[in-house]
Amino acid sequence: MKLTNEQKQKVEDILKQMTLEEKVGQLNQESPSIVGGFDVPFEELIEMLTDGRISQEDFGKIMATAERDYHEEDIRAGMVGAMMGNDPVKANELQKIAVEESRLGIPLLMGFDVIHGLRSVFPIAIAEAGTFDDDLFERTAKMAAKESRAYGINWNYAPMLDVARDSRWGRVSEGPGEDTFLGSKFARAKIRGLQNNRDSVKDYVAACTKHYVAYSACEAGRDYNTTTMSTSQLFNVYLPTFKAAMEEGACSAMASFNDLNGVPCTVNSYTLRDILKGEFGLEGFVVSDANGIKECVTHGIAEDDVDAGVQAMNAGLDMDMGTRIYYNHIAQAVKDGKVSMETLDDAVRRILSVKVWLGLFENPYVDEATIEAYKESLPVEHIALCQEAAEKSIVLLKNEGNILPLKKDAKFTLVGELADRADEVVGAWSLAWERKDCVALKAGLEAAGADFDYYPVCGPESDINEEELQAAIESKNDIVVAVVGEYTSMSGEASSKADITLPGKQREMLEKLIEAGKTVVAVLMNGRPLALGWESENVPAIIEGWHLGIQMGTALTKVIFGDVNPSGKLSSTFSSVNGQEPLYYNHPQTGRPGSKSKFTSKYLDAPIAPCYPFGYGLSYTSFEYSDLKLTETADEIQATVTLKNTGNVSGTEVAQLYMQDVTASLVRPVKELRDYVRVELAAGESKEITLSLRKCDMGFYNNQGKYVCEDGLFRIYVGGNSRDCLVEEIKVTF
Ligand code: BGC
Repeated sequence: MKLTNEQKQKVEDILKQMTLEEKVGQLNQESPSIVGGFDVPFEELIEMLTDGRISQEDFGKIMATAERDYHEEDIRAGMVGAMMGNDPVKANELQKIAVEESRLGIPLLMGFDVIHGLRSVFPIAIAEAGTFDDDLFERTAKMAAKESRAYGINWNYAPMLDVARDSRWGRVSEGPGEDTFLGSKFARAKIRGLQNNRDSVKDYVAACTKHYVAYSACEAGRDYNTTTMSTSQLFNVYLPTFKAAMEEGACSAMASFNDLNGVPCTVNSYTLRDILKGEFGLEGFVVSDANGIKECVTHGIAEDDVDAGVQAMNAGLDMDMGTRIYYNHIAQAVKDGKVSMETLDDAVRRILSVKVWLGLFENPYVDEATIEAYKESLPVEHIALCQEAAEKSIVLLKNEGNILPLKKDAKFTLVGELADRADEVVGAWSLAWERKDCVALKAGLEAAGADFDYYPVCGPESDINEEELQAAIESKNDIVVAVVGEYTSMSGEASSKADITLPGKQREMLEKLIEAGKTVVAVLMNGRPLALGWESENVPAIIEGWHLGIQMGTALTKVIFGDVNPSGKLSSTFSSVNGQEPLYYNHPQTGRPGSKSKFTSKYLDAPIAPCYPFGYGLSYTSFEYSDLKLTETADEIQATVTLKNTGNVSGTEVAQLYMQDVTASLVRPVKELRDYVRVELAAGESKEITLSLRKCDMGFYNNQGKYVCEDGLFRIYVGGNSRDCLVEEIKVTF
């Protein structure tokens, strides 16, 4: 986000005219509050939803008819800076009040969670990251931005940039996986896609990078839990995705719920002021996460709401999401000298700057007709991009004896409740999808004219239906495609799990089918890396399908029949058993690396190695790497390698370059991703490819948070995943 001098002047001119109260008003983000319309209090309704007394669907119906307070009076009084919502008609109504009826006519930011698409739902981020396709990352964000504007949204609470190493944490689904380098490239592409198409105000939004910072490092993977880490870990692992987003010009950031080394990120002036605004140069603003300021009282870091508000303001937290603490207390705090006018002005200036950059003063309204055009169905190019992203995100984990692809005329059995759950394809944080757009696998297979019998048998939470299981077993069909995994609600916020194996009786179902002599193809549908030790040993073919979005069924069908050759790779390590978590490929080297010998770093009752490593994914063809050669230029180490498609069909391989700093002043990771490239090869074709390692990417942050490049020996690895690589060594002087 760069403002012209004229735009900067405009911000200053507005600021000069504002009263103290109007300034505070800009810091206030409201959501429509529910004011009644049903017999139980709202809090109890939420509890009923949580404990299963009412279904998500019934909850949706109640909410659709419930009365809401949109805080029109406050908007009119200039006391609201941002609203939450995704209804263009409502957005225009509220914007009209802000622009035409408030004293200064300052338009509203309209925020919403558009994490992996809005109505056009793309694969969840952890899946999309596995395409290693920066261009795709950018194109899906670009489409999400366009749809957002059509729905009245101008500020997206995305991208989610939490590098996540513990798959028990439910929110792994929302981010780019476990690797900081991949996450940083993802961050840059997402910011470009959301913010950079500025020819028309209809095409771009302000991004809100989140959750700043280290939220994903919550102890034991339990959401909202405490976070403790060294400076070097913070700088090397958790900050770079945000730094990358800031370098790309991200407009805003959301402070995370967690405390970091004892200081909640909501009131952390070191992370907010010194690093984010100071070092990384955020010119826009920081918003709290929902209720975050109030939670500082619960954390025990603030005495009361006033204290929490004062601490947050002074730490550089510019906008309050949902607590009204700023609204209620900051004007008085300024009068009392607890918050300076300078601090307040700085926060307001940042928020106004984003509004000016968005062109909201000139174009506050959205075109309500755009989504009318989506009523019947989504535009074809939206569906096509959802499908492309879904196809590229699919990871083939196992394919014993080349069971897959199935022949088009093969007769088979389909099992698993999830195979027919169109409402479960979208994954966590999908808030504007429509069932009619969603294709589950069963529907995808039907549309392709596949010949199969379907028995649901069991789902993530149900018992095995013995009759249906028997029917599947007694059927003449040898091949059984089993869709197994997690419901959408099992990942995402507040969905941490201690047990990340296949939930419920699904494994038992697979076991019985295999015992009965069936050839089972497991299609996984999940929001987190699952512990797949048993499946990887016993199920002959496994497809990782994640929650792939609205075109899930179409994309899977194409992979199952070989119309699409899978090319996705894992953006996170998969464990074999629960107790291995957190498990990630780029762990620091220990003095006693795990081995057969007793006194080494390992568990007695779990494998040392992961079930599937980071970067892993098979294809219907095979690839061979040979002749790795390194050359040094002034700025880079270039790794040249011959990549050959040694199979019978064309395919795409994601070639990956890793480095290891062999000796350094701090213990370094065993491997670190530093480049990747997608390479398409026809059957039998071979190509010499070059991957680059920038010298400026060969250093690390030390315990003072300073980036250092240390001369010495480096190992350079190139391969198709983080485990199976060619290796060469090189001495580098910086
Ligand atoms: C989540 C954020 C989200 C916000 C607004 C919070 O509970 O942590 O990721 O953007 O709600 O919906």
